[in-house]
Amino acid sequence: MSLQDKTVLIGITGGIAAYKICELIRKFQKAGVNTKIVCTPNALNFVTKLTLQNLSKNQVYVEEFDVKDWKPEHISLADEADVMLIAPATANTISKIANGIADNLLTSIACAFSKKMIIAPAMNCNMWNNQSVAENISKLKSRGVEFLEPDTGFLACGYTGKGRLCSIDKIYNTVLEFLEYSQKLAGKKVVVTSGGTIEEIDPVRYISNYSSGKMGFAIAKTAYNMGAEVVLITTKNFGAPFKIVNVKSAIQMQNALDDEFETSDIIIMAAAVADYRVKNYSAQKLKKTSDEELVLELVKNPDILQELCNKNQNKEKIIVGFCAESENLLENAKEKIIKKGCDYLIANDISRKDIGFSSEDNEVTILDKNGGMKHLDKNSKSIISRQILEYIIHE
Ligand code: PMT
Repeated sequence: MSLQDKTVLIGITGGIAAYKICELIRKFQKAGVNTKIVCTPNALNFVTKLTLQNLSKNQVYVEEFDVKDWKPEHISLADEADVMLIAPATANTISKIANGIADNLLTSIACAFSKKMIIAPAMNCNMWNNQSVAENISKLKSRGVEFLEPDTGFLACGYTGKGRLCSIDKIYNTVLEFLEYSQKLAGKKVVVTSGGTIEEIDPVRYISNYSSGKMGFAIAKTAYNMGAEVVLITTKNFGAPFKIVNVKSAIQMQNALDDEFETSDIIIMAAAVADYRVKNYSAQKLKKTSDEELVLELVKNPDILQELCNKNQNKEKIIVGFCAESENLLENAKEKIIKKGCDYLIANDISRKDIGFSSEDNEVTILDKNGGMKHLDKNSKSIISRQILEYIIHE
């Protein structure tokens, strides 16, 4: 893996462990990783700007309004970095970031940072055990921030307990592991669908389903973090650093997929596509009549996944479908993977409230076209996405 073009943005806050980061910067330098340093003003009470500048061979950023370019630093530094590491992170900085407070350059960058963030806290053990700090850490973890827990031992403040910055080797290996992970899909184009399709009846009514789009979005975001060029075709509204194509109906979704098909390497259909649409869309709002019944005529939608698989006769692309079932999950999934002809089918039980539709978590079984199966225990949709992607690229 080439690390030459990778940049780690290191945020240093005001804790005694700040001096240990000098050694970390040297290790990154030796590995060829570019480091950019941003300090809180308090960090400079523990380590000098000159030391950090010499070690990183880059300017050290501290002042928010020291703008040298048209683009403010909190935006340009956030854009340039592949990963942001905050070490040592004080209780104060962690709590500010968790609550969106941006009152210095470091916290402003954190606020504008949408990629991977790793935080290595260091503080007094009583501060570590403080409930507000603990809640702020959980908040950040739930948003995908990775924490490297402090070690237990003798603390600079004289106490013995949990609060020492974890080892520099641990921080270094975690960042390097992430940089490797972020290359896994480099050069690949991944197209993902998400959300329930919307089949309009008239200007005010439609047929749809409970899909929130979260599963597909998590896959798209994970593929992006793994270095892929990503296109998310979705019926929902998401903000993301990758291309998003908004669609409503199954037909629109199929057209958008057709546009991306030739240039794609992996296609993942997590969308809940309606099997039928209304035969005659009414351009005007349908009026209530004296009839007790109203019959809506439906026609079949194309089976998008099956048609994509038919187009992939030379098997150049990896095509992955999902299978949503409320009963006999694996039996139905085994039939479906043969019928649709996809390389993998991700089976999930949508009768459960804690997984599947709209929930934060999922529990799935991956089926492959050769009859292999792998169960993934219940986990966040983001972790399940990583497991699915790693499985299909390593198989
Ligand atoms: O969006 P969330 O709230 O996070 O919920 C996630 C999910 C439950 C929607 C997702 O995990 C999931 O199961 N998606 C597939 C839903 C579905 O349509 O399943 P299916 O078994 O009916 O269809 C099988 C496959 O064929 C799917 O990949 C589907 O996208 C595709 N299909 C279905 C019908 C159709 N006309 N064309 C298709 O391409």
